[in-house]
Amino acid sequence: FNIIRLRETVSTNNYLRELLVSSREQLSEGMVVSADYQTKGRGQVGNVWESEDGENLLFSMLLFPSSIEANQQFVLSKMVSLAVAGVLKEEIDDVFIKWPNDIYWRNKKIAGILIENDLCGSNIQYCVIGIGLNVNQESFVSNAPNPVSLRQITGKTYDREDLLKRIVKRIYMLYIQLLREELNCFDEDYKTALYRHDGLHEYRANDEIFKASIEDVLPSGHLVLQTEKGTQRTFAFKEVSIV
Ligand code: BTN
Repeated sequence: FNIIRLRETVSTNNYLRELLVSSREQLSEGMVVSADYQTKGRGQVGNVWESEDGENLLFSMLLFPSSIEANQQFVLSKMVSLAVAGVLKEEIDDVFIKWPNDIYWRNKKIAGILIENDLCGSNIQYCVIGIGLNVNQESFVSNAPNPVSLRQITGKTYDREDLLKRIVKRIYMLYIQLLREELNCFDEDYKTALYRHDGLHEYRANDEIFKASIEDVLPSGHLVLQTEKGTQRTFAFKEVSIV
């Protein structure tokens, strides 16, 4: 893989997107931009992604999934979260995907994913996969909910380059699988990897708190919950959170 390594940048997602716009030569599929530090790392829904200089993995990977339609793009979230969780499971136990695509160790967040797609008609032209994985950071000052790093879990220091290569390779392998197989090829693995996929748990939607279990995640990415009272309720991202 072609990897551009930066000391510092605003955001590796921004860098890769700007490169796409400005480069005359075709960028190659699978190319990666990684940075030691981001001055304005972005999380989902406009959050910031904080990461201490040189301690963690901050990178973006480029794909051209032109056969995937805009309304099918959630399959890429499943693919990337399974790849990150898969590599982490080689290092630690108790790794889960918290719907839709946060990576958790027990009840703490160890990695976040920000996928940005550019469309061409109704299909995806460019897909920029941004991943922030907490690797060697020893403490977090941020008020982000429950961050944790690999080092905090095991006490070991990790080779970031090695983890980067393993994750990129795994994403690419799953991507090849996706192109060969059906769109639902990750569904079983995704569902079993989900955080709290079994049993009743408390959820909050607006100001209402209720107990429910995960029934399904639709191809659109919507979460289907079966409430304690026996009704089914379907939620889009950010409409519901686990209490
Ligand atoms: C989230 O959980 O909110 C998503 C966090 C995504 C962070 C990564 S770090 C590399 C890439 N560049 C960014 O600005 N964001 C993503």
